[in-house]
Amino acid sequence: MTEMITVTIDGRKIQAAEHTTILEAARGVNIDIPTLCYNEALTPYGACRLCMVEIIDGKRNRLVASCIYEVSEGLVVETDTPRVQNVRRLVMELLLARNPKHPVLLAMASRLGVASSRFPTEMKGCILCGQCVRTCREVVGVSAIGFAGRGTHRTVTTPFGEAPPDCIACGSCAYVCPVDVIRMEDKNGIRRIWNTDFEMIRCEDTGRYIAPKKQLEHISGMTGLSVEHLAARHCK
Ligand code: FES
Repeated sequence: MTEMITVTIDGRKIQAAEHTTILEAARGVNIDIPTLCYNEALTPYGACRLCMVEIIDGKRNRLVASCIYEVSEGLVVETDTPRVQNVRRLVMELLLARNPKHPVLLAMASRLGVASSRFPTEMKGCILCGQCVRTCREVVGVSAIGFAGRGTHRTVTTPFGEAPPDCIACGSCAYVCPVDVIRMEDKNGIRRIWNTDFEMIRCEDTGRYIAPKKQLEHISGMTGLSVEHLAARHCK
């Protein structure tokens, strides 16, 4: 049986199931906490640090990432203290230094009261939220991309920066990227993603391209349905 835990968030006593994160408990009672790397379909990763909150831990207050910190009996959480606001603004400025123009980041910055970044712009585009990497691994199930490097050199890339052998060109990474930095283009029966060209399967009746061949082969391998059957289903 699931054990229920009592926590206090922003002065409100809340019942939450064990193993619930602070973020989930807070959102469950409509207390909003900003996030960029959180996606409820994926394992929390704690990368962006925008979701920081303050917890009262004995006599000390500590900052924790609410998307990965689980509630415990009697936990006291404050989601909007000056310290929390300051750390979120700092994080936002660091993110803006990597990508100063994307509307999603500008909207978040405005919400947090950040007009600009005091850090020099080093345009990377990618904010290292890891949603693409987790989607590829956890939803698609292929791990075609991953993180490489450390610190400011950290990037999302394919193995050895080469054509990714496991990629099925489904584009899930591009769709889930909150800042649109993963380039994907369909042209003349070819899908180009991660600097690699993938053949698309074409519907003979309509002439429309349906999906990358490797994607249908992947689905075929998982479902036992033939590629021809899968293609025919979408050939309308
Ligand atoms: S949402 Fe928690 S660290 Fe990004």
